Amino acid sequence: MQKLIVNGGRRLHGELKLQGSKNSALPIMAACVLSSEECSLRNCPRLTDVYSAARILNCLGCRCSFSGNTVTADPSGINATEIPESLMRQMRSSIMFMGAIIGRMGECTVSVPGGCELGPRPIDMHLAALRKMGVSVSDSGGRIVCRAERLHGAKISLPFPSVGATENVILCGVCAEGETVLNNAAREPEICDLCSFLRACGAQIKGDGGSRIVISGRAELHGCEYTVMPDRIAGATYLSMTAAAGGEIILTDACVPEMEPFLSVLEQTGCSIYTKDDSIYLRSGPRLRCVRERIRTMPHPGFPTDAQAVLMAALCKADGTSVFEENIFDCRYRHTDALNKMGADIQVLGKVAVVRGVRSLHGAEVEATDLRGGAAMVAAALSAEGETVITELHHIDRGYEKIEEAAASLGGDIRRV
Ligand code: EPU
Repeated sequence: MQKLIVNGGRRLHGELKLQGSKNSALPIMAACVLSSEECSLRNCPRLTDVYSAARILNCLGCRCSFSGNTVTADPSGINATEIPESLMRQMRSSIMFMGAIIGRMGECTVSVPGGCELGPRPIDMHLAALRKMGVSVSDSGGRIVCRAERLHGAKISLPFPSVGATENVILCGVCAEGETVLNNAAREPEICDLCSFLRACGAQIKGDGGSRIVISGRAELHGCEYTVMPDRIAGATYLSMTAAAGGEIILTDACVPEMEPFLSVLEQTGCSIYTKDDSIYLRSGPRLRCVRERIRTMPHPGFPTDAQAVLMAALCKADGTSVFEENIFDCRYRHTDALNKMGADIQVLGKVAVVRGVRSLHGAEVEATDLRGGAAMVAAALSAEGETVITELHHIDRGYEKIEEAAASLGGDIRRV
């Protein structure tokens, strides 16, 4: 079993190049299914979830290979429509292949996707939207069989701006006959990245980044070379880590406008933050201040749920009390037990977590509970006195490219054994 051993208390200092976005790379890899020619994706992070997506592509008949951070996918030979349950279970994004396979082949068989346990994560909105586009869906014993005699555009209004449902509608709509209008679409930057990739392949999509997306279907998609956007959540993680441990960092290759909802909250802790082009500089003050206004996670451009845990880790030692309100997932405070074990004072009541700043944290043995919760434990461990041992690293490895090398390059005493 692999572990991270962290000896906290060292200030962090240095420059870090931000990895490519996991939550962009995964739907874009699914979108490769729609192209008739080879696609080359630069800046793909080397993560277990990305390897899972490559395995799904391979099993569909799309040859997929890695060279450094470039993924090459050749979908010309796609001949299968079914994803085995073992691959579906490996990550949430496996469900994105559903829209893409139906778009290309008119049918697909999948099962309920895996992913971090953050409370119930149904796919009812995905299925309802596909049904509106002419897809018949039968669900027996967890196997979801979808068929479309004639995939057609539709007017769809999502009850909530779900990221995954928005992506599935876009993937399906690109190949459907006629126009698809999607209202109350998710506005996350990764949606725009997916649409930019599809446009580079010849798709006609307008309005992404806003709540109303219009897709003109039946495009013949060709291959392209594309660069995946930077990972705003990994960026939030390394900034929070530096704020927690104290020190200064220059984050390069960052997506500054997309990170503003996070940066505007982080700034309230008293950290000095300067941005220029695609770089972010952060210097922490002697002690962080609490955030006075309630930190409410919301769909973009609100404060991102994926950054809740890592910011919480930094606020554990802040001066004063900060209050979080988690509005996206029912069960996204599972990291708080580990932070409390390290000496934090966090009380959770339903969707609210009250973080009373303490003077210091201490090392402990903790288990990563999920991807972002695990990253929060790394940030807390770097700021704690003494040794922390973190296990269940497979959660962290799903979203961070060598987190220990990144933290060590900033001067953190952290190693994987
Ligand atoms: N929801 C439904 N029904 C649906 C779809 C969603 O009830 O059919 C609910 C979910 O249960 C949840 C809320 O709607 O309570 C939001 O879910 P959404 O569909 O927006 O999220 P997702 O597509 O499952 C993506 C990211 C998550 C990120 C969320 C919110 C990927 C692969 N995952 O998930 O990222 O937290 O959007 O921004 O893009 C992570 O990277 O750690 C991660 C969990």
